[in-house]
Amino acid sequence: MNHMKYRPTHLLVSCLLLALLFPSVLFAASAELGERLVREQCVTCHKFEGAPESKFNLKAPDLMWGGNKYQRPWLIRWLTGKEENLYPNGYRWDKGTGPQPHVVLSAEGAEAVADYFEKNLLDPRIKKSFVDMSTLTEVEAGFGADIFRNFSCFGCHQIKENGEKVGGPISATLYDAGKRYNLDWWSRFAENPQDFTPHSGEYLADLSMLGARYIIGYVMTLGVEDFKYFEPWKTDHFKNADARRGAPIYKEYCTQCHGAKGEGNGPGASGLEPKPAVHAKMALSEFPEDYLYNVIYYGGKSVGKSPNMPDWGLTIPPQGIADLIAYLRETFKGE
Ligand code: HEC
Ligand code: HEC
Ligand code: HEC
Repeated sequence: MNHMKYRPTHLLVSCLLLALLFPSVLFAASAELGERLVREQCVTCHKFEGAPESKFNLKAPDLMWGGNKYQRPWLIRWLTGKEENLYPNGYRWDKGTGPQPHVVLSAEGAEAVADYFEKNLLDPRIKKSFVDMSTLTEVEAGFGADIFRNFSCFGCHQIKENGEKVGGPISATLYDAGKRYNLDWWSRFAENPQDFTPHSGEYLADLSMLGARYIIGYVMTLGVEDFKYFEPWKTDHFKNADARRGAPIYKEYCTQCHGAKGEGNGPGASGLEPKPAVHAKMALSEFPEDYLYNVIYYGGKSVGKSPNMPDWGLTIPPQGIADLIAYLRETFKGE
């Protein structure tokens, strides 16, 4: 008798071989599974097409832009039941049911749904973000945190401070936003939240582009433990810095307040309180580069000093700032 023909392992090997030779076979199978899962298990609650709607007409968040919104690993964790609820009072807080457990898929099902999202749920309004996260500094994220406070974001969204959830629990939690959102989606959302969720309110409309960069960038750091901030003082501009090129920059932009010789007695000094620093008496040679960078680039306010010490980041180009700092450190060594 010949059992060989019916050995299941043989079937498996031929399937694997087939998949290796024709990867599209696998993709097609996954796409089909993804579509079937969405049709059979998701559409009862979520909308996948049509115009955005007020949440008061919905059972669950709209997913027309599901292929743009999430970082894939987050989506997989969410669909396999490994994430906490996003809405502490339930999505429909007005119903008073509280948070409900979500449908849980197998790992295979979740991958298939994620594939389906990425292929079929792309929102043409979403373009590459104007925010470049690779140049976000820690000071800028700090400005973003100030905006988060000053623009009432805490009123409706929770983040974590020292491990504790703080903020009003009415909308999505944001303490792991940096691991959840795709930057492009979040930037476009921030531009006008109403385009995605009518009745969400508009909280960022009066921000400058820089302010938008700060808040968008800040939110993308939330929950990212090893976020790498940009450190301009470690760039080539600083390696190539030249104090001689810095001298005329000091003359042009700094002496009006700090004085020709750094004695704090420039014509702009009278009427300022506190007075411009007396560089001639300071050992700026000993000041760390990152501190000098921040006080010059972002102004006195960024390091807890007077806001009358202006920010120069938009005026003096990066190499100029590096040259200026070289000049300060070489010229002012204390008494
Ligand atoms: C019984 C209703 C229901 C079903 C069925 C359902 N969901 Fe959900 N889903 C919700 C609710 C409610 C939320 C908000 C969850 C919360 O409180 O955190 C949600 C959240 C989500 C989110 C995150 C949305 C956001 O805020 O960005 C995704 C993604 C998602 N569901 C995908 C799916 C997929 C895929 C399926 C089908 C496999 C599915 N859901 C089935 C009710 C449902
Ligand atoms: C009055 C309450 C309120 C305030 C204040 C508020 N939001 Fe929202 N936010 C919402 C609502 C409502 C939504 C839509 C989602 C929902 O149904 O809860 C939303 C959605 C969001 C989302 C997308 C959530 C998701 O996964 O779909 C982000 C990110 C967000 N807000 C950030 C902010 C930031 C940053 C601020 C401060 C500048 C802010 N929000 C201020 C109520 C608020
Ligand atoms: C409009 C006036 C003004 C101009 C112009 C100005 N500064 Fe200042 N600067 C100040 C004031 C005021 C302080 C003191 C801030 C305080 O003590 O709170 C200060 C303080 C400083 C300090 C000391 C910070 C510390 O930790 O004590 C440095 C360094 C500095 N400025 C560098 C510069 C450089 C470099 C320029 C030119 C690019 C410049 N400043 C231009 C007003 C000015």
